Amino acid sequence: MGLPSFKILGASWATYQAICAHLGEEPKPWRNITELAANLAHLKPFPLAPATDENHGRAVSFMARLLGFDARIFVPAGMASARIKAMEAEGATVTVVDGDYDDAVARSGEEASDHCLVVSDTSWEGYETIPAQVVEGYTTIFREIDEAIDASGLPHPDMVVVPMGVGAFMAAAVTHYRSGERRPTIVGVEPLDANCIQESAIAGKLAHVPGPHKSIMVGLNCGLPSMIAWPRLSSGVDWFVSVDDTAARQAMRDLADSAVAAGETGGAALAGAQALLTDPEGEDALVDRANSTVLLLITEGATDPGAFKEIVGRSHDSVGRVLTSAH
Ligand SMILES: Cc1ncc(COP(=O)(O)O)c(C=O)c1O
Repeated sequence: MGLPSFKILGASWATYQAICAHLGEEPKPWRNITELAANLAHLKPFPLAPATDENHGRAVSFMARLLGFDARIFVPAGMASARIKAMEAEGATVTVVDGDYDDAVARSGEEASDHCLVVSDTSWEGYETIPAQVVEGYTTIFREIDEAIDASGLPHPDMVVVPMGVGAFMAAAVTHYRSGERRPTIVGVEPLDANCIQESAIAGKLAHVPGPHKSIMVGLNCGLPSMIAWPRLSSGVDWFVSVDDTAARQAMRDLADSAVAAGETGGAALAGAQALLTDPEGEDALVDRANSTVLLLITEGATDPGAFKEIVGRSHDSVGRVLTSAH
């Protein structure tokens, strides 16, 4: 779909479910998106309004464009213009809120009405159904990973490392890996100054880590865990790791050397795994290291190509290319 993150899996499923709830039934039968859009044309412009760090908003804007709806996106102050332009390119109206991600979420919540659907990936008191459907949508990724592993004959992971913002994606990981027979160690990774899930785990209840959150891992710059994700995070995650931007940049370079062009947020899982496995405290996180498999969720491509070039030293589209000429 040309979208550089996994967020469309949650945005598409939750948007569709929310439209069904709004209609009080499934739309008329449809075979493809064009038919679905035609069946929903009477709802137009029916704006979809998420708050976003970018990736979720971009995914919702994409859904809105497919369905012929408007998209109104609320973003925190200081978001890179390349990221804003990417959302505008999907046809969204982007409003910069004077504040951080949590302020943008609060602002988007004010849009909710019979004529505007708030499709947020985080939850708060009284706003729980749609974020739960976002989590459901994300679980697709873990089923696909299982299928790919089965098809390849590779071993299933002993450890799974997941980047965490509000924790919706991790809630999907916990749902998947704590319901089957295989029980890998689950590791969650956050930026050092936005580690609200780690702080919540220490406090034993939801904790707020006030901003401004300045990490380059912008997808993870959240000060408050999602309320509906929290019970799964507190019971299902084995290790909480916080990393700084130096580690995030190094992870991007290491991934590029392995032919993966990951954005700043995308590299967080590798940074977290390295931090945990080199820390004496993490000594028993993986018992038999030589024979273990670690699954890293690299959740984002190069969302800010200029920053990628600066950090990695070459452009993202040269990463992974095999040179066949003699140069
Ligand atoms: C690329 C990327 N990875 C991971 C996450 C974390 O997801 P969650 O906020 O559900 O924890 C985000 C959230 O925006 C993201 O954009």
